[in-house]
Amino acid sequence: MALKDFAKVSLGCFPTPIQRLDAISRELGVSVYIKRDDLTGVGLGGNKVRKLEYLLADAREKGAEVVFTTGGAQSNHAMLTAACALKMGMTPILILKKRGVTGPLGNRLLESLMGVDVRLMDTDDYADIYAEMDRVGQALGRPYYKIPCGGSNALGSLGYVDCAREIAAQGIRFDHIVCAEGSGGTMAGLALGAMLYLPGVRVHGMMVDTDPFDRITPRLMREAAALLGEDVDIASADYTLRDMCGPGYAISSAEGKDAIGLMASKEGLFLDPVYTGKAFAGLIAMAKEGAFRPDDRVLFLHSGGAGGLFAVKMDE
Ligand SMILES: Cc1ncc(COP(=O)(O)O)c(C=O)c1O
Repeated sequence: MALKDFAKVSLGCFPTPIQRLDAISRELGVSVYIKRDDLTGVGLGGNKVRKLEYLLADAREKGAEVVFTTGGAQSNHAMLTAACALKMGMTPILILKKRGVTGPLGNRLLESLMGVDVRLMDTDDYADIYAEMDRVGQALGRPYYKIPCGGSNALGSLGYVDCAREIAAQGIRFDHIVCAEGSGGTMAGLALGAMLYLPGVRVHGMMVDTDPFDRITPRLMREAAALLGEDVDIASADYTLRDMCGPGYAISSAEGKDAIGLMASKEGLFLDPVYTGKAFAGLIAMAKEGAFRPDDRVLFLHSGGAGGLFAVKMDE
């Protein structure tokens, strides 16, 4: 089925702007632009709104009244899922891993302002959490829908295939796109979308977790291409992956902190220590290594993360 024929609910503000970062471009010696998906228009913005427009449309079509999702205690995805589900009149229930900052700070604060049912589970295995969703859902006796961690299945990834289509329509020709990769859907969607709508663009995924993204990325791309009925040769896709995790998922890195400082002091824009700071540090490293030609145009995806910014100790 063609992308335009998928059920989609309008939740956010699109297209998000693309802006040239003049001061950063001078500093790095290459033209750097930013795609403002921190301005997607629900909550404090962020990439998940694009995925949720497809996932929650599917939930609604399937008659769901309750929407479950999961992530770490400070998951931006979980907070945005709750915000979007509430906007649609559904009941969100978040079953989060009891890992990271669990107190009423950052995204947990936003969830309490929305009055969301949040349950913390002491496990490192998402299988336990998905089983708990089924247990709770069946006990409630209401139709429910489970959204995986990060909204990263094939359907959610369509949000970023659509973002690539949006970038193409915005009219600036780019050579590179750089994004954070945390559960895979954003990168997979952009890499597939680049094959379909942005020929010649190389997509760079900056891995902020330790999952096997070299397998996850092409698998999600293949599954999303199958949904779209697109016969593309994923093995020939032009993308790279780079390990920017540093000391661990959701633990800030020295390079990430420097990148956040550079963006804040030169452009007045705020990145977060878990995703976008580490991703932008990857872009800076590539520029310093000479990976870009002086006349290249590089687009950095600002995928949000503001909620988490207020729940991380930067001096850790
Ligand atoms: C702010 C932010 N940026 C990037 C990502 C990574 O996106 P994905 O999970 O699709 O890899 C996330 C995921 O939670 C996020 O919250």
